Amino acid sequence: MRNPQLNAQGELTHLLTLEGLPADVIGAILDTAAQFVSIGEREVKKVPLLRGKAVFNLFFENSTRTRTTFEIAAKRLSADVINLNIGVSSTSKGETLLDTIDNLVAMDADVFVVRHAQSGAPHLIAEHLASLGRSHVHVVNAGDGRHAHPTQGLLDLYTIRHYKQDFHGLTVAIVGDVLHSRVARSLIHGLTALGTPEVRVIGPRTLLPTAAETLGVRVFHDMRDGLRGCDAVVMLRLQSERMNGALLPSAGEYFKHYGLTQEKLALARPDAIVMHPGPMNRGVEIDSPVADGERSVILPQVTFGIAVRMAVMSIVAGAR
Ligand code: CP
Repeated sequence: MRNPQLNAQGELTHLLTLEGLPADVIGAILDTAAQFVSIGEREVKKVPLLRGKAVFNLFFENSTRTRTTFEIAAKRLSADVINLNIGVSSTSKGETLLDTIDNLVAMDADVFVVRHAQSGAPHLIAEHLASLGRSHVHVVNAGDGRHAHPTQGLLDLYTIRHYKQDFHGLTVAIVGDVLHSRVARSLIHGLTALGTPEVRVIGPRTLLPTAAETLGVRVFHDMRDGLRGCDAVVMLRLQSERMNGALLPSAGEYFKHYGLTQEKLALARPDAIVMHPGPMNRGVEIDSPVADGERSVILPQVTFGIAVRMAVMSIVAGAR
């Protein structure tokens, strides 16, 4: 079956997930992002690649980093940006998601950036657009349920490549609530597609997917064992909004076993980088001296997110 994100020529037309995305497509996004990083360092940061196009930001869930960096990215591409205020939109009066989409298509939308609590919502919109014959309208997943957060995965890959040059020979550890994390899933798919020899997940049994090994990762329940020799450590937030019932004794107990402290980080390689997608809970999954320390690249991740989102939108909207 054809990958629904790619057109008949194998070009990226939507970005829904990193799962199954060919390594050359991921590599092309990262290379394009590198050009936009250098534009971000210029005094005039705008390029005309999406001039005349309308980008609709549809965030049905809270966001700080993703929504804002998509807006900055679209503006730097010279697009018109429309941020739908979901709280006062007609979805709060019972309008279906697809009826909302039909109305926005009637307003000449070119790109939908969609965050939704339901896994599969961006995919549903992409299928709906195809059924309407609207192949010139593109969908970018900005995080759907537990399923995928592909632009976060891409900016994480970009960050690792920036600091470590390439993925061959690397050991990357993803620590914490992998079970509920769309960020972890996207990063695992991206790292394995790009040939990372060792991807580890570290966490308590209650917060790791059953049969996690089938994702191509090594599983550790002891954080100290899992951190040994790592080149990059990606910390995850406890996704309490997606948990059903108590999966942990307490936040304090969690920090003791799975919080990243300087003492635990010393087990990784001396040049290991520390990452976090945000929002970060200090004293729960990460200690402040680590979050603010010299090995932390958490804020550069946010900055790279602008260039990565510029790359994705310019590629899917055909402004190559
Ligand atoms: N990393 C991330 O998705 O952050 P936001 O929820 O602030 O967008």
